[in-house]
Amino acid sequence: MEFPTWAEVDLDRFGRNITAIRAAIGPDCKVLLVVKADAYGHGAIEISRAAMDAGVSMLGVATLHEGIELRSAGLSTPIVILSPSLLSEVDEIIEHRLTPCVSSLEFAELLSRRCVAHEVISRIHVEVDTGMGRTGVSDGDALEFLQRIVAMRNLKLEGVFTHFPDADSGNTFFAEEQLRRFHEILDSLARKKIEVPIRHAANSAGILSLPQSRLDMVRPGILAYGYYPSNRVPAAIGVEGVMSFKSRVVQLRSVPAGRFISYGRTYQAKRATRVGVLPVGYGHGLPWLLSNRGEVLIRGRRAPIVGRVTMDLTMVDSTEIPDVAIGDEAVLFGEQGGSRVTLEEVAERAETIPYEILCSMGKRVVRIFLREGHPAKVLTLVGERHESETLETTGARRTRKVQYKSSRIPSSG
Ligand SMILES: Cc1ncc(COP(=O)(O)O)c(C=O)c1O
Repeated sequence: MEFPTWAEVDLDRFGRNITAIRAAIGPDCKVLLVVKADAYGHGAIEISRAAMDAGVSMLGVATLHEGIELRSAGLSTPIVILSPSLLSEVDEIIEHRLTPCVSSLEFAELLSRRCVAHEVISRIHVEVDTGMGRTGVSDGDALEFLQRIVAMRNLKLEGVFTHFPDADSGNTFFAEEQLRRFHEILDSLARKKIEVPIRHAANSAGILSLPQSRLDMVRPGILAYGYYPSNRVPAAIGVEGVMSFKSRVVQLRSVPAGRFISYGRTYQAKRATRVGVLPVGYGHGLPWLLSNRGEVLIRGRRAPIVGRVTMDLTMVDSTEIPDVAIGDEAVLFGEQGGSRVTLEEVAERAETIPYEILCSMGKRVVRIFLREGHPAKVLTLVGERHESETLETTGARRTRKVQYKSSRIPSSG
């Protein structure tokens, strides 16, 4: 089973990362795993199932549809929609038992009314903006807002949280001030006898740089996928990268000195060059800024990207790679033969952050989920791939059958 371009997602490594995070935070602190943007490109359903096995308590998504995707896959765990939802989404939020983050009274009132009508109780979380400057209610308005919310019928305040914008900066002064302000608000709530079962604040950077921010629950994303949010946080919890991104040489060309390569003719061969063509481009999630900058691994050696990365194809100079052949594996990030190209390196060369590269991993990149180093599941653009081989009874002829099981959510209408 070979693919032109694929990402290997090592579910055992992922499980070990969660175990390491849980060991560091201790038994009294829960984990809400952030699985938005298809679990940072890794595959939300498979990652969420592995997360449940590893003892994660809640999942965090950004959109209604991300929540429905997980429910349709049979996940019954609490799922928090971390971004604000639209009024028009209320009924589906209730139907799929998703937990919204409430940041307006209008939304809360509608949710409450619809819950009463459906005769259900909706759990809700409220974000207090202590300095992120994005979503939630401002710290100054939080007490009054929460007092109004808890009085509404059929709503159950489950969590109150805040978010750090720069706990990964190497200077925790601002995050500490945010945490102090958050505690002030929690204390005022306690004085008003408003119970907050789960107080949470720490993203990956908070978990690592500000242990006192772990509170009742932490919300790791990038750390669970095996990367540190920056190189300025203490690497206090050991994690391993879960994903490797790979492609294959599909064509080899001998190019004489002086010839140009790819769009814009930005690269001119200075010598006779053996050019390897890889079937991967920005349409798969390989950053265009790696044009004439990136490096891939072939046979354990580095081959520089020459010319512009195109939508589907990228060229590399493989002149220095002895015996390079069509079909050779090319590692865009990950390990090969004892060498390594790290995601952080790729992000730096592409002037972006590891998060963006992971989340940009396109649908046509085959995901191979590994267990004990072997493929346990293969997800392609056209569904989950199954391959079976049968021996015909009449002779020794083998027949191979490939089937794709569509992962699309079945319609109920
Ligand atoms: C509210 C919230 N909490 C936690 C996270 C996880 O962040 P990280 O991946 O840096 O751990 C995110 C991600 O953007 C987020 O928006």
